[in-house]
Amino acid sequence: MERTTLVQHVRQQERMNPGATGEFTSLMNEIMVASKIVSLEVNKAGIGEDILGLTGKINVQGEEVQKLDEFADMTFTKIIGQSETVCAITSEELEYPVIIPPDRNPGKYIFMMDPLDGSSNIDVNVGIGTIFSIYRKISKGIKVTDEDLLQRGDQQIAAGYVIYGSSTMFVYTSGKGVHGFTLDPALGEFFLSHPNIKIPKQGSTYSINEGNTEIWCEEQKNFIQYLKEKDPATNRPYRLRYIGTLVSDFHRTLLKGGIFMYPRDTTNKNGKLRFAFEAAPLGFIIKDAGGRASTGEKNILDIVPTEIHQRVPLYIGSTHDVDLAEKYLATPSLHVEKKPATPLTGKEKPATQEG
Ligand code: AHG
Ligand code: MN
Ligand code: MN
Repeated sequence: MERTTLVQHVRQQERMNPGATGEFTSLMNEIMVASKIVSLEVNKAGIGEDILGLTGKINVQGEEVQKLDEFADMTFTKIIGQSETVCAITSEELEYPVIIPPDRNPGKYIFMMDPLDGSSNIDVNVGIGTIFSIYRKISKGIKVTDEDLLQRGDQQIAAGYVIYGSSTMFVYTSGKGVHGFTLDPALGEFFLSHPNIKIPKQGSTYSINEGNTEIWCEEQKNFIQYLKEKDPATNRPYRLRYIGTLVSDFHRTLLKGGIFMYPRDTTNKNGKLRFAFEAAPLGFIIKDAGGRASTGEKNILDIVPTEIHQRVPLYIGSTHDVDLAEKYLATPSLHVEKKPATPLTGKEKPATQEG
């Protein structure tokens, strides 16, 4: 049976671009090599290797850095940094961009990444991943400037993610369809397993951390309430699925349809997820798969970031479902002030039988 490897696929796609130099294929190959190394480490985690747990450091996001976060960041930064295909690397784990110096033969691409997504799930053997995004250097001259590092979402030339789950999958788009590859661990090769992925126009699953309900706006609460009501004619109630690893929740949404949401709330005024390392790459992928990504008010891909670690609210998935979320968020809710329930102290007398 004809099996297409990831590099063969990328080369075929790049050949469709007039004037292609092969540099993009070479960059994708390096990303693939780094993902195989991280996959090996993730799958060994817990067996002898001291790769689980915390480093004791706090990153620029104010989050505790796990050993695998650091390992993944170092692996991708080192391999991509010496690939002679990029002139800069930005990472969720690095406060400042890595600029490739002239003596290291910098290339024409900018590489952005969330090296290890789903860190809170590392030690409990739940799917985790890597998310990446590739832009072209657009500023004149050899220096890398903010013009290169803060590009509008739709300026991406490619985006993808790796899921280190029950199998290791590599999903990417360079604007010509979304394609999934599964790692054959025996051969150490990614083979095409999900060609031309398209997301259903409407789904029946919603994905959100309902533990934050109390800190959402009323309009957000109304939308979730709506999805829970029983109405077969409109495919409701939706099922709730929430893994807590964006890459895994996104991958399920991409394949089955529905909507993933990480809204803004009173704690995270701009939401929790990062534009450059999570929302923009996944927004580029979902668009090519026939879906949508929004902040709840505007398209993710229309955003021009003002700083590298900018956060945005994220609504991503089937077009019908994201459109509906935007409608709910734009419909001012009747702010019925509900009396907050008096929290139980646990000292209450048990209700008498007949009580
Ligand atoms: P990261 O591990 O790269 O910091 O990303 C974690 C993100 C994302 O993976 C997930 O969707 C979200 O955090 C979960 O947040 P909550 O635990 O607040 O639900
Ligand atoms: Mn992440
Ligand atoms: Mn991360």
